[in-house]
Amino acid sequence: MKRFETWWKEGVIYQIYPRSFRDSNHDGIGDLKGIIESLEYLQWLGICAIWLSPVYLSPMKDFGYDIEDYRIIDPLFGSNEDMYELIEAAHAKGIRIIMDMVINHTSDRHRWFIESASSIDSKYRNFYMWHDAPSRKKPNNWKAAFGGSAWEFDKHSSQYYLHSFLASQPDLNWRNPDVEKAIFNEMAFWLDKGVDGYRLDVINLIVKDALFRDNPKTIGETIRAYDMQRHVYDRDQNETHNVLRRMRSMTEHYDKRMLVGEIMVEKPGNPEMTASYQGNGNDELHLTFNFAYNWIAWDALRWRKEAEHWYRALKDERWPSWVLSNHDVKRSITRFGNDVQRAKISALFLLTQRGTPFLYYGEEIGMQDKPVAPWEIKDPVGRHYWPFHPGRDGQRRPMQWNSDAGFGFSTVKPWLPYHPDAKKNTVEQQKHEKNSLLHLYHDLIAIRNHDEALRLGTIRFLDHEQADVLAYVREYGQISRLVLLNFSKDARQIPLSLIAQGTQDAAFRVIFNTTSSLVETTDTHLVLGGYQGLLLCEGE
Ligand code: GLC
Ligand code: CA
Repeated sequence: MKRFETWWKEGVIYQIYPRSFRDSNHDGIGDLKGIIESLEYLQWLGICAIWLSPVYLSPMKDFGYDIEDYRIIDPLFGSNEDMYELIEAAHAKGIRIIMDMVINHTSDRHRWFIESASSIDSKYRNFYMWHDAPSRKKPNNWKAAFGGSAWEFDKHSSQYYLHSFLASQPDLNWRNPDVEKAIFNEMAFWLDKGVDGYRLDVINLIVKDALFRDNPKTIGETIRAYDMQRHVYDRDQNETHNVLRRMRSMTEHYDKRMLVGEIMVEKPGNPEMTASYQGNGNDELHLTFNFAYNWIAWDALRWRKEAEHWYRALKDERWPSWVLSNHDVKRSITRFGNDVQRAKISALFLLTQRGTPFLYYGEEIGMQDKPVAPWEIKDPVGRHYWPFHPGRDGQRRPMQWNSDAGFGFSTVKPWLPYHPDAKKNTVEQQKHEKNSLLHLYHDLIAIRNHDEALRLGTIRFLDHEQADVLAYVREYGQISRLVLLNFSKDARQIPLSLIAQGTQDAAFRVIFNTTSSLVETTDTHLVLGGYQGLLLCEGE
């Protein structure tokens, strides 16, 4: 495996939702040993790092995003020894490990919260956001992302505490310097064990307005009725940047570690805000997620617009990342009509933009998304909002390895049901099919891993007449690559003069083709087939 100078800029990062990846001990829940058993596959796929959704001790009210102890692996996933073994085994294969760090809140079972709640005089009282409640009036109008008020009344002390998510996920008080110290210590624990970085959960939420002012209301938005306010005072406070600068300095004591932040923004997104958490490019987060492509429609012009907006917001000094799917949103293939041809076009886009691609487990085989039946809902969001929101179980179904009874995931009933069409898309079957989505991912990642222009080059979109076709050039020194993506099911004529802009010459060579159709040219045009995507370079 190739080791890059800056791995987090150049490699492809693969997100695993551990509950759903591979169950090694037959209890229906994926675990660390299951991941260790899958490393060979991930190495073959060519990824450079794994991001693990949380595996810490947790009551699992939000499936690990409610941490009871940062230093202990939950027995459902294995032991601390298993985690150390995973780090070592992955490193031996040139694969890095990124853990999820949830520090906006803990579980209410965390010892800090238990202490904090025990008495107003506890030395941990100020670790959380307690607020007086004269005549039981709520301190302000802030809403929790999972429904209802963000304030929970505590009878024991007659005060409210703040929770941006579930009541069992109390928010830490980041205006208390002891919280920062304590959390940095917890982070150091795993960095000392060799973990290569952290994905920081809802990191733009950690600091709240010191005056606890009311959020302004929004108008409209009936479907997302649960979120009828703009989060002006409970997100994106300036002080967060100071915390992140100190966190960055802390991680710089270690060699080559990386921080990537989840920046929770309201639709339609805010690339400038998202980019701001990378500071000057060297002093805050290495990467931040832009979720524009988690909501986007199938429309070439929109894709170009969003990409250019993201590049503009980052400017040259900060590094882009790209993500189509994750454990919180409907899988991209399903959003785009469960069409493999479209999945191939989006894969070529994801792997040829300037910046770090993130891949969500199963995306490489086109695993589809389907909400689970109402009585099977496990996700707290689904439990609260069904039928307005089906919850996030659909995108967390078990990985489809092969066509055995348990699809190679487990031998017993899985914690979430398999997708009803699971046997149509499995790793085993797609490994045997040359034209499969899996082979496309494998081949493109391999090309990328050996191609400096794709990993590090600049990007420039080309203007032309075909609204359904995205055309862009990646350039690095003398090397240039041209990408053509046809978002339409119908063929499109591309002038050779446009191609010459990307290949520095009318002559070109096909490096990669998402379809098995040959590339046809006339004297003046290249005929791009329906849903055909091409990666071209100069040459015959
Ligand atoms: C993030 C996570 C999500 C979780 C929430 C609360 O958005 O991605 O899964 O429910 O934070 O921790
Ligand atoms: Ca298990």
